[in-house]
Amino acid sequence: MADKVLVIGSGGREHAIVRALRRSPQAPEVLCAPGNAGIAADARLLDVAVDDVEGLLAAARAEGVALTVVGPEVPLVAGVVDAFAAAGLRCFGPVAAAARLEGSKAFSKELMDAAGVPTAAHRVVTTVADGLAAIDRYPIVIKADGLAAGKGVIIAADETQARAALEAFLVEHRYGTERVVVEEHLVGEEVSLLALCDGERAIAMAPAQDYKRIFDGDEGPNTGGMGSYSPVPGFDAARAEELAAQVHQPIVDELARRGAPFHGVLYAGLMLTPDGVRVLEYNVRFGDPETQAVLLRLRSDLLELLINASRPGGLAGTRLEWAPETAVTLVLASAGYPESPRTGDPISGLDAVPDAVEVTHAGTARSADGAIVTAGGRVLNVTALGGDAASARDAAYAAADLIAFDGRQLRRDIALRAVRPTRSPA
Ligand code: AMP
Ligand code: GLY
Repeated sequence: MADKVLVIGSGGREHAIVRALRRSPQAPEVLCAPGNAGIAADARLLDVAVDDVEGLLAAARAEGVALTVVGPEVPLVAGVVDAFAAAGLRCFGPVAAAARLEGSKAFSKELMDAAGVPTAAHRVVTTVADGLAAIDRYPIVIKADGLAAGKGVIIAADETQARAALEAFLVEHRYGTERVVVEEHLVGEEVSLLALCDGERAIAMAPAQDYKRIFDGDEGPNTGGMGSYSPVPGFDAARAEELAAQVHQPIVDELARRGAPFHGVLYAGLMLTPDGVRVLEYNVRFGDPETQAVLLRLRSDLLELLINASRPGGLAGTRLEWAPETAVTLVLASAGYPESPRTGDPISGLDAVPDAVEVTHAGTARSADGAIVTAGGRVLNVTALGGDAASARDAAYAAADLIAFDGRQLRRDIALRAVRPTRSPA
């Protein structure tokens, strides 16, 4: 019988991981906890929450799963991989001591300094007065230390905004943080470069770009991500490898030196500035929605890669194979997202989408009468491949426009940059 694999999470990223695992020639049986209305068509769902570490462990044991793949950061920072390892179960992702890289921005900065990774000039402060004293020009970037679901970064244009951000983080303790990183505001193009890591080495995946703001033209508040595409023009495999040697490998080496070897996906959010590359942040997991675009291009066996990455040095000799096409992912978001997403709106048109286009579900649920309805901020992802960025965009938008729900939000400019590159070489 084929091995069982358990994916932890309930978003579009996890649906894309489930789909990619099902493309494995090993034909695993795929389970997902807790999943969503769309993942239910591709995996058997287990009713266990992502932060219920004991429940996940018990489910993995009872099912006899060969590999558990952790999607979101919260269980990683909470130590789910440590708990599985202690029980002798294989779990793809970093242990808590390595997941701090995402769990604490102050720790991440300290590690970047120790490893010699280029990043924005910064200071870590614990009081509003020290924060204000650390600012020498505006705009300035103010980051809450802990996990904040993408809401802990404020770009302050003046002292009033800076004071408000420092007070929200350090006086009201929004996001439970005691520390704040005050850092230089960088300007340039952003690229998400993910690497598979086996505790010893980092292997660059295909580069992607993410669209964080809610409105076209990068206007409005930050979201979890409104779209993505891969590859990124001007950013070929050789450049990706060169950057992984500069920004991923030193972190993997430093964590190994500290006795917390990094296994899993190390995601570097990069800014290509006129002075060279700078790391904005690390995440310790697959990006959402970058993964939806990147995994649709992966031609290697994801299951084999994830198993190998879970073993010390297990990725030795690995070469990743990618489809040459461009993948474009569009996010369909609910009314009111990101401030106050409305739920319960019926979704129509899913059956009309051609098979060649991948629809992954994020915030969807099945209502009592069996209809698929919105159940979160980011509702659906539509990913299409094309011979170039223009045809991938056309296919993705044609499919997305078949899907309707009240208040649907969809950016119209995803991957336009790849059609009309404006990049200056960094
Ligand atoms: P982070 O969660 O640290 O990646 O920050 C979220 C977003 O804030 C990034 O994707 C950038 O768009 C922006 N950002 C973060 N740090 C900086 C910086 N030092 N300069 C300019 N923009 C930044
Ligand atoms: N797309 C940004 C993230 O996954 O954090």
